[in-house]
Amino acid sequence: MKAVILAGGTGTRLKPLTYWTNKHLLPVGSYPMICYGVTKLRDAGIRDIVIVTGRSALGSFADVLGSGRDWGVSIAYKVQEEAGGIAQALDLARPLLLPKEKFVVLLGDNLFEESLQPYREHFERQPEGAMVLLKKVADPRRYGVPKIDPNSGVIQSIEEKPENPPSEYCVTGIYFYDTEVFTWINGIKPSRRGELEITDVNNAFAKEGKLHYKELTGWWTDAGTFESLEEAGKRLKGAIT
Ligand code: G1P
Repeated sequence: MKAVILAGGTGTRLKPLTYWTNKHLLPVGSYPMICYGVTKLRDAGIRDIVIVTGRSALGSFADVLGSGRDWGVSIAYKVQEEAGGIAQALDLARPLLLPKEKFVVLLGDNLFEESLQPYREHFERQPEGAMVLLKKVADPRRYGVPKIDPNSGVIQSIEEKPENPPSEYCVTGIYFYDTEVFTWINGIKPSRRGELEITDVNNAFAKEGKLHYKELTGWWTDAGTFESLEEAGKRLKGAIT
């Protein structure tokens, strides 16, 4: 299975730190943030990684990770020329993935404790569709929030940053897809903020009853705010082996 790490965006909530570099290169513990996603994938046996990022930081990603050789993986890069949303960034990786092979997508600011290996194995056995990882959070309103059908074990729908969250869970930025995802990406329209939203893509799977989920049990954070960046730094002190 291959993987895509999405590492673009403007890092608005982390300004002024992100005036001079891409969010995913900011220090967390002793390493640039992007290194954690790469090693989590490697440790789950995923060795082929596509990183999608913006033009300005591309050279710095290469400085840190190069071809991936020193990290035990093989890395290819795609450039997202302007902010067009998570789903648009994912579409850029399409030519570098195998035509019929399932893959995993990681938002590069998602940092977490558990190994992805059991989730990957579970998804490999899933006949079709998508699987997302959920985490119970104190305030779901800053995330995509799923409405779950506990009987069928699938997500019925996801609301992005809802005022009245339909559950206590957030949809983390860890997504497993079959290649049908590209059909859905091509079918969705830009949102009000002009971007192709990953939540719209996931809702297309949900409508078909094909959006499965698993719950992360260890700690998880998306290091997109100062508070969560600091939390991640404390948890990950010296954590890469
Ligand atoms: C994105 C997704 C959201 C998800 C979150 C997880 O939000 O749109 O559904 O819950 O990542 O990190 P963003 O952080 O881009 O606002």
